[in-house]
Amino acid sequence: MMGWIRRFFAKPQAAPDAPPKPLVEPELPAAGNPPANEPDPFAAFLPFQIRPLESADVSKLISVFRDAIQVGTADQYNQAQRDAWSQAQSHDSLISLLSEGETVVAEWDQELVGFAQRVQDCINMIYVHPDSARVGIATLLYQHLEDGARVDGVSRLTAYVSLTAHDFFQFMGFNSEGEEQADRGGVSLTRHLMRKSLVTN
Ligand SMILES: CC(C)(COP(=O)(O)OP(=O)(O)OC[C@H]1O[C@@H](n2cnc3c(N)ncnc32)[C@H](O)[C@@H]1OP(=O)(O)O)[C@@H](O)C(=O)NCCC(=O)NCCS
Repeated sequence: MMGWIRRFFAKPQAAPDAPPKPLVEPELPAAGNPPANEPDPFAAFLPFQIRPLESADVSKLISVFRDAIQVGTADQYNQAQRDAWSQAQSHDSLISLLSEGETVVAEWDQELVGFAQRVQDCINMIYVHPDSARVGIATLLYQHLEDGARVDGVSRLTAYVSLTAHDFFQFMGFNSEGEEQADRGGVSLTRHLMRKSLVTN
């Protein structure tokens, strides 16, 4: 069974006011993970719902975006970088960005816990709230977008990937084509250019 499925079913239910607990399950050997491009047979049994973005989601989505950056990327980016990244999009510019392409959100117990966007052949955004990390939410969001890309006849997906998300995209079958610097309000952030072919040989 995949590591994240095992962690999910082992996840302790925190009291409402308790701080989030780190998940410290032992790692599964690599042989326990199926190939990244196989559909997950357990997805249908999970309590997450993936659905299209609705206008009522925007405030919650912005708070997921900011928390995912401020908390979720703290091991890879310093405070100035996280501030520049999380504030690079104003409320209005984020709404305008979200209206492009396809944006889907993940709900868990009626709470919006993540979102992702594809514009043509580019996975533009994928963010999961740190309290809901490593239980497979980004996997389900991404799989939804990849399915849509295949239906649209996209042959190769591109993503500009944070250092934090590199291993996630690699797990999804992307390869890094190298690092580059992104500018966010005059602050430089290292990221990977990653691509995945959707064409089977
Ligand atoms: C990257 C991100 C979207 C992943 O979301 P997630 O829901 O925790 O990812 P999943 O649970 O679906 O992870 C699936 C697999 O990806 C890999 N993975 C995900 N996050 C990882 C991490 N931080 N370190 C190493 N591997 C990771 C693992 O192989 C994981 O499987 P496992 O848990 O069984 O080991 C989330 O951490 C996030 O929002 N990060 C901050 C914002 C960001 O950088 N977004 C991307 C912008 S390009």
